[in-house]
Amino acid sequence: MTDLANALGLRLPIFLAPMAGDVARPELVAAVSEAGGLGQLGGGYLAPEALRASVRAIRQRTDRPFGVNLFVPQRTSIESQHVDAFRKVLAAYYAKLELAQPDPIPESEDHFEQQVAVVIEERVPVFSFTFGIPRDVQLEALRKSGAYLMGTATSPAEAMALQAAGVDAVVAQGWEAGGHRGTFLQPTDEGMLGTMALVPQVVDAVSLPVVAAGGIADRRGVRAALALGASAVAAGTAFLATNEAALPPAHREALRGPRAAATRLTRVFSGKLARGVPNRFMDEVERCTAVVPPYPITHHLTRPLRAEAARRSEVDYLSVWAGQCAPMARRCSACDVLLELAAGIGNGP
Ligand SMILES: Cc1cc2nc3c(=O)[nH]c(=O)nc-3n(C[C@H](O)[C@H](O)[C@H](O)COP(=O)(O)O)c2cc1C
Repeated sequence: MTDLANALGLRLPIFLAPMAGDVARPELVAAVSEAGGLGQLGGGYLAPEALRASVRAIRQRTDRPFGVNLFVPQRTSIESQHVDAFRKVLAAYYAKLELAQPDPIPESEDHFEQQVAVVIEERVPVFSFTFGIPRDVQLEALRKSGAYLMGTATSPAEAMALQAAGVDAVVAQGWEAGGHRGTFLQPTDEGMLGTMALVPQVVDAVSLPVVAAGGIADRRGVRAALALGASAVAAGTAFLATNEAALPPAHREALRGPRAAATRLTRVFSGKLARGVPNRFMDEVERCTAVVPPYPITHHLTRPLRAEAARRSEVDYLSVWAGQCAPMARRCSACDVLLELAAGIGNGP
């Protein structure tokens, strides 16, 4: 057992990586915590009261430790003609699904301050974040509430910045990871170290426990990550196809489909680099010359499209977020995945 797992009161140093969206609903988070790991709720897209409801739903299912993860807001600016040009690109897709496009200048959904207040009020045991570093006063208030703090780094420099900000642990997110890159210091195109190279460099750069994330889907990955010096592992993709994950059927099928082994990074769904299984929307929009507006503008502009695609289970327009280990995602219970990962701890086969 690692010091980190002991500090968090866990039986296993294995985390459900936070996944915003419908995937990691309270059932999945609680199942992982109940089985001895750390379930984490990806709360980034949730309005404050929905976040509170999810936290309470987790607590109804387990009294074991769990975490909540949020997106640190970023400043963005873009010329309005670029937004207009991108909306023209999206028009054909909205027409195809017979949907109205959202407003050109999406209303701000920057709930971060209120989301943090919910985490504090609900006394969430573990708080993790990505896309940046919260303000000092926010970190201080979270710490005072008793939360254990974890920040996401994609480079040793980001890990050092997180340590300087006073976090308790660093999540080292390798290039293989599914979903959005957490990169915040260097240009995203430079935050591309694979887990195998990133974890030992982060372990050397900071004096904090390091959680390895990216490409870990079975006991072999866990064993490798611990050998590299990680104190715990976080797996996202491995849990995507579990019974407790609320994945649209088309997303689930894509994990077993012919393109699952060829995940790639794209900006076209959200304006921020994220890894997923390629589909028609990715292929076509990436070929357009239009500038893709930065996150969260594009996230808002494509959201109704993605929601409708999920409702219809239409893979062509879904953001099929998944990591490079997508073909290893199994349809089974979350507990089965956890047990497989746990077999990589110690000297077992
Ligand atoms: C569907 C999906 C959603 C994700 N959402 C978040 C999120 O909200 N916050 C975050 O810090 N990371 C998010 N990630 C990244 C994961 O937390 C984690 O870094 C990644 O899944 C680890 O790599 P793996 O997918 O190879 O296991 C997401 C990943 C996926 C696949």
